[in-house]
Amino acid sequence: MIMFARDMSFSFIDLFAGIGGTRMAFEGVGGRCVFSSEWDAWACDTYEANFGERPSGDITEIDAFDIPQHDVLVGGFPCQPFSIAGVTKNNALGNEHGFRHATQGTLFFHIARILEASRPRAFLLENVKNLVSHDKGRTFETILRTLQDELSYSVKWTILDAQALLPQHRQRVYIVGFRDAVDFEFPELSGARATLSDVLEKRVASKYRLTEHLWNYLQGYAAKHRAKGNGFGYGLVTDRVNGVTRTLSARYYKDGSEILIPVGSGPPRRLTPRECARLQGFPDDFEIPVSDTQAYKQFGNSVAVPVVQTVARAIRDVLVKRRSPDAYVQGRMRTILINSNRNGRTNHGQKAKFPRKTAELVRTTQANLPLANSK
Ligand SMILES: C[S@@+](CC[C@H](N)C(=O)[O-])C[C@H]1O[C@@H](n2cnc3c(N)ncnc32)[C@H](O)[C@@H]1O
Repeated sequence: MIMFARDMSFSFIDLFAGIGGTRMAFEGVGGRCVFSSEWDAWACDTYEANFGERPSGDITEIDAFDIPQHDVLVGGFPCQPFSIAGVTKNNALGNEHGFRHATQGTLFFHIARILEASRPRAFLLENVKNLVSHDKGRTFETILRTLQDELSYSVKWTILDAQALLPQHRQRVYIVGFRDAVDFEFPELSGARATLSDVLEKRVASKYRLTEHLWNYLQGYAAKHRAKGNGFGYGLVTDRVNGVTRTLSARYYKDGSEILIPVGSGPPRRLTPRECARLQGFPDDFEIPVSDTQAYKQFGNSVAVPVVQTVARAIRDVLVKRRSPDAYVQGRMRTILINSNRNGRTNHGQKAKFPRKTAELVRTTQANLPLANSK
C-alpha cells in the first residue's frame, strides 16, 4: 500500500470514469475518490472489480448537489460541437451563464454545471488532441471561454504525448484549472520509460495471430494506398527497444491493424488485452473481468496512467501548498446562493439539495452576503 503524509491527501471526483485510469493516477498521488460516474455496464464491471465500487450512471441524470464536496474534478468527456453563436450573443447581452445556451445538450455542459455548483479548487479535463481544432477551433474556444470567463477559473492547457513514458504515440490535450490564482506549470514528462519488451507477454495464445486472409487483405489495402501516396494502412512494430506503437484506439478490437507484432515469417499478431493494459501503463494486478472485445474498447478509451499521474502530482503540489478551507466553504456557499432562487430551486429547475451543515450556513449568512457582489 502507498502511504502519504496526511497533508498530501485531497479528494476528487471521477467523471466519465471508464475503467478508472484517471482514478488510479490520482489515487497514486494521494487523492481520495469520493464520487464516480460511468454509464457503460461493462466498463463499470471492470471499475468495480478493481476499485470495489460501482460508479453512478448517466451524468446527465445526476443533480450536482448530490455530488459530495471535492477538491478536484477530473473528467475525460466525449468531444461534441457547440454553437459559438450562442456564446457570443449571450456575452453581448451580459449574460454570465452563456454556457447554458452554448453547450446545452453536450456532455461538457454537465462538467460546467458541476463546476458551477461545487466550485472545486481545481479540475483536470483530458481529451483527444483534435478537440483543439474541432469545428475550426470553435469547440475549444467555447470550452475555454466557459471555464475562464464564466466560471472564473484560472486555466492552462497543453498537449502531452505518452511516448515520453510509454512505447505508445498518444497525444492528448490536458486542461487544468484552479479556482484561485496560483502558479501552475505543466510538468515535463520525464523518468524511466517502458519499452515494447516490457509490454509484450512471453507466451501468447495463437488466437491473437491474424489469419492469412486478413493479413493478405491488410497488405493489399496498404499497397493500394501507398501507390496513391497515402500512409501505411497497418502499424507493424519491429523494434522492441526503441519502437513506439500508434495510438491504441477503442476500435482496436475490430482487426487490430493499427498495432501489430511480427511473429516469425507468417502473419503478425495483435496485442493481447493485458498488453493493451501495459501499453496504457496499468499495473499487472489490474483485473480484466470482461471479454477481449470489451477489454480492447476499454483500454483504447482509457488514459495513459503515468501521464495523468504526472499531471495529478503537479496539481496536488499546488493544492497542498495553498490549503484554504475557508475559501472553499465561502465559494460553495456563494455558488449555492447564485444557484437557488427564492423557492429553493436550482437554475436547473430541480429542488436544491444542500448538506445540512451548508444549508444552515447559507441561512445564517444569507443576509450578510449580497448576491450582486457574489460573482
Ligand atoms: C474517453 S472515456 C474516459 C475513460 C477514462 N478516463 C478511463 O481512464 O478509463 C469516456 C467515457 O465516458 C463515458 N460516458 C459517455 N457518456 C456518459 C454519460 N452520459 N454518463 C456517464 N458516462 C458517460 C463512456 O462510456 C466512456 O467510458
